[in-house]
Amino acid sequence: MEKIVNLCKRRGFINLSSEPYGGFGSCYDYGPLGVELKNNVKKEWWKFMTRMHDNIVGVDSAILMSPKIWEASGHLSAGFADELSECKECHKRFKLDDLGEDKKCPDCKGELLPARKFNIMMKTFVGPLENDSAVTYLRGETCQGIFMDYQWVLNTTRMKIPFGIAQVGKAFRNEINPNNFTFRTREFEQMEMEFFVEPKDADMYFDKFMQERMQWYIDLGMKKENLRFHEHPKDKLAHYAKRVVDIEYNFPFGWGEIEGIHHRGEWDLGNHSKFSGKDMSYLNEETKEKYMPFVIETSAGADRTTLAFMLDAYDEIEGGRSTTTETIKDVEIALHLSPKLSPVKYAILPLLKNKEELVRKAREIYDVLKIDFNCQYDETGTIGKRYRRHDEIGTPYCITIDFDTLEDDTITLRDRDTMEQKRIKVEELYKLKI
Ligand code: GAP
Repeated sequence: MEKIVNLCKRRGFINLSSEPYGGFGSCYDYGPLGVELKNNVKKEWWKFMTRMHDNIVGVDSAILMSPKIWEASGHLSAGFADELSECKECHKRFKLDDLGEDKKCPDCKGELLPARKFNIMMKTFVGPLENDSAVTYLRGETCQGIFMDYQWVLNTTRMKIPFGIAQVGKAFRNEINPNNFTFRTREFEQMEMEFFVEPKDADMYFDKFMQERMQWYIDLGMKKENLRFHEHPKDKLAHYAKRVVDIEYNFPFGWGEIEGIHHRGEWDLGNHSKFSGKDMSYLNEETKEKYMPFVIETSAGADRTTLAFMLDAYDEIEGGRSTTTETIKDVEIALHLSPKLSPVKYAILPLLKNKEELVRKAREIYDVLKIDFNCQYDETGTIGKRYRRHDEIGTPYCITIDFDTLEDDTITLRDRDTMEQKRIKVEELYKLKI
């Protein structure tokens, strides 16, 4: 994990937020490479959900919403809270799980007060007054916005049950114990899809989405042996759920959830109908049957998933890998990301930076490729060093422009994983897809 954290900082993937002030509240910033990587993860998820399913559409709802939503959803009650013990002496709070056998304060060994529930919703004020009537919360999960838009989507599209609504966006939780880099933070992004079904079909769709979501990770290159399902025992289910199966990744600190498949039954639409006074049941126009739809949810964390993709792709090669031009001996890092996720798709490398014809040709190729792909023009250092720089950030292909290019319009295309180098025509290069 430490190696990934270092790589993230050193190469501009992820860093502490508010760094000049020493960081803030376990929040993180994504740098130039990190934002490309996370955007690619979100883009692949969005494509899978909305484009590859004819009956799923997207929305982008507000982060700030009526506080009544959080009463109805159960997030303001004990269900969305951590059980904590407070130290009488230093007033620090600890999760029960983090306490030793002596049940004393782990920091100052002071006496602990009996455990209490602390809600983890982030409170804020909307408008100029800071009184109770102005209180609302930064959303604790993105799906509540989807439930708010559910009837609007039904009325404005030709969607009929079964259908789904997808959303990607920020969520906030005042986590007591943020940990493991971007695994558990207080501000994070979720990729959630709520699928509305007839109650009798709920189990079938639960199984379908479980399998589909697992396959998504595998199709994007995650190693099968690092993924598993974990079914929550019935007595440990979240307050809204009838059934929960997590997709877990084998992190360096142990197996951890990256996505949850949730059977939410009629919890959300039922409660919002009650609290808002607006009936959210569904009328089947053909059978005239009216019912409250059940919801099957797939809920993934964009940050956790991005971290898992990076860890899974990370590789160290002792002694380095030889190139045709030179051998550099020490530890070489390669990030074997799926090309779909790689922040940079092509590195364009003129053999020499002080030969005007080579630079001109390399720039010409760069200008064409950058229209469709995120590319980097890189002319500094030996070709071997440039290959390494790009292996380390997961660039799948390096393109070298040399004197032969000027003669026959061919370039060398070098593959990050196999290190195979192919000579191909520039016009063939332009036809390649990623
Ligand atoms: N709407 C259901 C829901 O929010 P969840 O299991 O609490 O379910 C879903 O969260 C996903 O969101 C998790 O699998 C994880 O990937 C991500 N997530 C939750 N809390 C997080 C946190 N504090 N930091 C980073 N990601 C988090």
